[in-house]
Amino acid sequence: MSKTIVIKFGGSIATDPKIKKGFYRDIATLHKQGYKVVICHGGGPEINNFLLKLGLKPKFVNGLRVTDKETMEIVEMVLCGKVNKEIVGALSINGAPSVGISGKDASLLIAKKMKTTPDLGFVGEITKVNTKVLNDLLKDYVVVVSSLGIDAKEQTYNINADTVATKIAQALKADKLVLLTNVKGVLADATDEFSTIMKIKTSQIAGLIKNNVVSGGMIPKMLACREALARGVKEIDIIDGRKPHAVLQAMKNTKNLGTCFVKG
Ligand SMILES: Nc1ncnc2c1ncn2[C@@H]1O[C@H](COP(=O)(O)OP(=O)(O)OP(=O)(O)O)[C@@H](O)[C@H]1O
Ligand SMILES: [Mg+2]
Repeated sequence: MSKTIVIKFGGSIATDPKIKKGFYRDIATLHKQGYKVVICHGGGPEINNFLLKLGLKPKFVNGLRVTDKETMEIVEMVLCGKVNKEIVGALSINGAPSVGISGKDASLLIAKKMKTTPDLGFVGEITKVNTKVLNDLLKDYVVVVSSLGIDAKEQTYNINADTVATKIAQALKADKLVLLTNVKGVLADATDEFSTIMKIKTSQIAGLIKNNVVSGGMIPKMLACREALARGVKEIDIIDGRKPHAVLQAMKNTKNLGTCFVKG
């Protein structure tokens, strides 16, 4: 049976045309080799650009975007209308026939409001993943997912894309989950790119957050990894998406690519 892989394509790396081109070609290679590939994308920098153009200030708490009604509309327009279509178009042209959907399509991601202090507005957490649409599309296509969810009252939620990737990996019982980002992995010292922590056990995650070793966008990544490992995902890699052929290397289990998360 063909292997299923889920890849989070960080918005932070999606700004460099050369990196993007290499990524699209790698995905085409995997698709031709028979892998079933789901790509979950973020779009942090693009969303920030649009908010600023409209005179709105991006705000984050613990790496999550504060999402009021207006911001929610812009997040949806940018992720689904711009980022998703750019990825889908480029993948298809570069040899990986792809279909783009959001968590709202065929009720892929059912969500509810995430309860936090301070309140983050329309930031959601996933309560259910309806995998049918993915399984149907994966028979022929690479599937590219924008990180939105919806509830029974038709309210749309902004969901962190790392969380989306990990939840989808769990639901599909994926063979591999790779989070591509713009750093060399989890760094012991965020200012030193040679301080990558090669292996992190689930039991270490709380301490790394509490002691401020990780901050910003790395916090939701770590929490998502912890949950996914607790729920049966065997191995997760956070790797540097700026490296040529990062995805292909990850599939070959090349050592020292970034940070590997394991249960324990
Ligand atoms: N200890 C740490 N090691 C590595 N990165 C860290 C650490 N602490 C904080 N970070 C930050 O986390 C960032 C990665 O998360 P970020 O959410 O910005 O990117 P992304 O998830 O790849 O993109 P997007 O959120 O748009 O999908 C790094 O660029 C870095 O600034
Ligand atoms: Mg992020």
